[in-house]
Amino acid sequence: MKKNFSRALSIVLCVAMLATCLIFPASAEETAVSGTTPTRISVAVNGDPSTQKGITWYTNENTTSVVEIAGIDGTLATNCTITYEEVFEWEGKFVHKALVSDLTPGTLYLYRVGNGTDFSEVGKFTTDNDDDKFSFVTIADIQSGNQENFFKGAKVAQAAFDTVPTAEFMVNMGDFTDDSTNEEWDYYDTAMKDINLGTTIVPVAGNHDGLGVEHWFNNMFNLDTSESVQVKDGVNYSFDYGNAHFAVLNTNDVLSISIAQLNWLENDLNSTDKDWKIVFLHKSPYSLGKDAKWPDALYLQESLTNVLDKCNVDLVMGGHDHQYLRTKPLKNNKVNEDGTVYVLSGTAGAKRYEVREFLANHFMKTEWIDALTIQKGGYGNYWDGQDWDQTNQAYIGGIFNEISIDGGKLTLNSYVLSDLPTDENGEPIEGAEQIVTKHDSFTIEKKTGENKITFTGDNITSEAEYNALVVPSFLGLAAYTFTMWLPKFLIMVPALLKSVIVDDVF
Ligand SMILES: [Fe+2]
Repeated sequence: MKKNFSRALSIVLCVAMLATCLIFPASAEETAVSGTTPTRISVAVNGDPSTQKGITWYTNENTTSVVEIAGIDGTLATNCTITYEEVFEWEGKFVHKALVSDLTPGTLYLYRVGNGTDFSEVGKFTTDNDDDKFSFVTIADIQSGNQENFFKGAKVAQAAFDTVPTAEFMVNMGDFTDDSTNEEWDYYDTAMKDINLGTTIVPVAGNHDGLGVEHWFNNMFNLDTSESVQVKDGVNYSFDYGNAHFAVLNTNDVLSISIAQLNWLENDLNSTDKDWKIVFLHKSPYSLGKDAKWPDALYLQESLTNVLDKCNVDLVMGGHDHQYLRTKPLKNNKVNEDGTVYVLSGTAGAKRYEVREFLANHFMKTEWIDALTIQKGGYGNYWDGQDWDQTNQAYIGGIFNEISIDGGKLTLNSYVLSDLPTDENGEPIEGAEQIVTKHDSFTIEKKTGENKITFTGDNITSEAEYNALVVPSFLGLAAYTFTMWLPKFLIMVPALLKSVIVDDVF
């Protein structure tokens, strides 16, 4: 579906602005929320990260959209272009979107949004300088329905930037909220506001953000949807950063991933000669968590990995199951040193899943596991290559990840921010601190300059093409479910029942 700013109203050139005019306050000032006060502000990756950013914000009243961009000294930028979409109403609020382009690569910018009279606090973002060395951080699955747990998740995100101050963007692997309601997105905004004002976000659609809550995800972020196969239940898109190509998938597409999106992915991955190919998605194909027994995520072990294997993807990062699991390199569901490493990110939220032991060597072979950390409250177990009952109390908390690329070397460090210690009444212990512990680290090294472009041209899926593939997509999932998943599931039922009865784990 092509949706290239069909609602675009106007293009405003910053050239007209006075180059020497200092417009931004020296420090951010918090003001009371009025009908025109900008909320839910985000700067998202949109197209070329060295020159473009996609900004979104909301207001309670219908008002004009104005974005101001400045250099780090507060001087208005004079050479960028700002394209505004038409303001539209969504669930009782008004959505503003703007695309900022013609930015200078490798530059730290200040910005604020508003209507020309009422402005937001000042935020900042950095543009990619196109070199082969950069870092970013990831979080996943805060999935909260109350303000308190959003604040806990925000502490994990803040710990990520405190640990990796050079991170140039933050990937959120989805399930931003629990039920994707106005109230929950406001909780998210209240908790994450300062973090969102200070970085660029790469959002991934989770099932709690898209499936059954249509259009919410696409209305929260200004992403490049020009190649998205649909935008109702989430968005798929891609971008280059440094010497890496990133494809962001939408696993709400026909309950998992549609044939149209798989076709898009294969073309997309074959259209780049960047050294690194990295895929972000929400539902993870390899897991030992609560949702790893259902066919929607497990279908990815067949459908998605088939494409990833062909296209030499280095790293896949996902969420959905609230634990941390890293596989050995896999190809065709076998350990293969030329294969793809899959990382289930671990949750930054308070809801955490223990291992479903009945899944092991059934849908998920233990020989595929290279690292596993279970964050479940009360214990922090990890995989030692033999079993997952090795306890490390430092592993109880919310997880974030640091990924650094330096030429032909990729490093992933995964950290736990320990929960705030509490007394027997659940009250915080005075003076106790939350501690960051590195619980996993690995590197991939490769020869650069080897990837070749084998697809050129249009990778846009029309609505008619997408619709024509919906039924075959469902049939593919159904065929997998009845011929491959169900026989294994039925064999697993006694072990599952034992787990429910003896361990109270479903
Ligand atoms: Fe999920």
